[in-house]
Amino acid sequence: MEPYQFESRLNRPIMMKIPELKRNERLKHIIFSDQFDVEFLDDIRHLSDKIRDISKTRKGCNFLASLLSHKRAMLYFTQVSTRTFSSFKAACQILGMPCNNVRDPSVSSEYKGETPYDSIRMFSSYSDLIIMRTKQPDLAESCAYLMNDLNEFNQRNVPIINGGSGADQHPTQALLDIYTLQREFDFKSIKHHADGSYFEELKQKYPGLSRGMNHKVYGFCGDIGRGRTVRSLAHLLSLYEDVTMYFVHPDLPKLKLPDDLKNKLLKNNVTVKQFESLDDIVDKVDMLYMTRVQHEHDSEADRDAFEKYDKADFILTPERVAKMKDYACIMHPFPRNKEIPTSVDFDPKARYFMQARNGMWVRSALIAYLFDVDSQIIKHHSQTFDTYHTYNKEVL
Ligand code: NCD
Repeated sequence: MEPYQFESRLNRPIMMKIPELKRNERLKHIIFSDQFDVEFLDDIRHLSDKIRDISKTRKGCNFLASLLSHKRAMLYFTQVSTRTFSSFKAACQILGMPCNNVRDPSVSSEYKGETPYDSIRMFSSYSDLIIMRTKQPDLAESCAYLMNDLNEFNQRNVPIINGGSGADQHPTQALLDIYTLQREFDFKSIKHHADGSYFEELKQKYPGLSRGMNHKVYGFCGDIGRGRTVRSLAHLLSLYEDVTMYFVHPDLPKLKLPDDLKNKLLKNNVTVKQFESLDDIVDKVDMLYMTRVQHEHDSEADRDAFEKYDKADFILTPERVAKMKDYACIMHPFPRNKEIPTSVDFDPKARYFMQARNGMWVRSALIAYLFDVDSQIIKHHSQTFDTYHTYNKEVL
């Protein structure tokens, strides 16, 4: 069978692709983190917070679960996944959307030689949303073009969400990373004393500190070259003002900051610096994003080179955590290997388990947005909570 030809579309600059992934003024397919702007990130943040609030009661859960009970999702994950798969499934469940899944091509017709495109088109016959993760970097993007072509011919087509495409992109991980940071740098959570006193105390010690994502130093450590989460997140952080990024990685071509990403960041006025030990940056960063070395992409030669470098420079020991700023947060997309010892897990700076939970809220917000039920959530939230707050103010 002749494969579909998407090469000419795949080889275009990313800015030319973005309009095609939209429907009217809204996003239709979620393929790259480049599709998001600061306004969208704020909207998703507020929607996620509202879903979170509404979910606190049974009545609220029942409301949310009524929103998409007439739709179905297909989770097509032929590359390993724990958090992305489970949190997408949980997100669908929050919205009442039943899901089916294929996690292993050897139990689908791909084993008999069916192309992923035929499989995807079949899934679109049975479901209203396809969330996919594959080893092949451009498959989710190609599937979005296939769906758009079907649309042109008035044939059934559904939105595609990229849940991780090879070493390339992981846009929804970047969304949840941003959501986690937005909440951290508000300095308003229970951990931060809601009355604002914590922020005032911090300002005494760190006079330049401001709320929000601007004017921050973001550190990344580990496999910068092949980490799709780093690529997607670094781009989104570069949309904020006065941002500095420090990258810590072994001096090996495959693991270092790739030139295309570096140039993209510099173009967005980010101050970029590279280091070879965590010691150079731990006391300077507002956030430290740790990553594992992505050994699944190794060649034989890589394996030999990777044996030789000193791993100690890239391990976040409790001694290094102790040198971090009081309010700094430690993030990790997980899975981890040895780069964060479990002894760090109970430190209040360690936010990676909360970060993973945030993925469920952000993904439910994203799905709600894609199916245009976000305004219903906003309305329900204001009807439930605005009255509640006014009432409380009067009686307290
Ligand atoms: C990451 C991924 O799959 O890219 N994990 C995740 O989705 N939370 C990071 C990794 O595999 O290292």
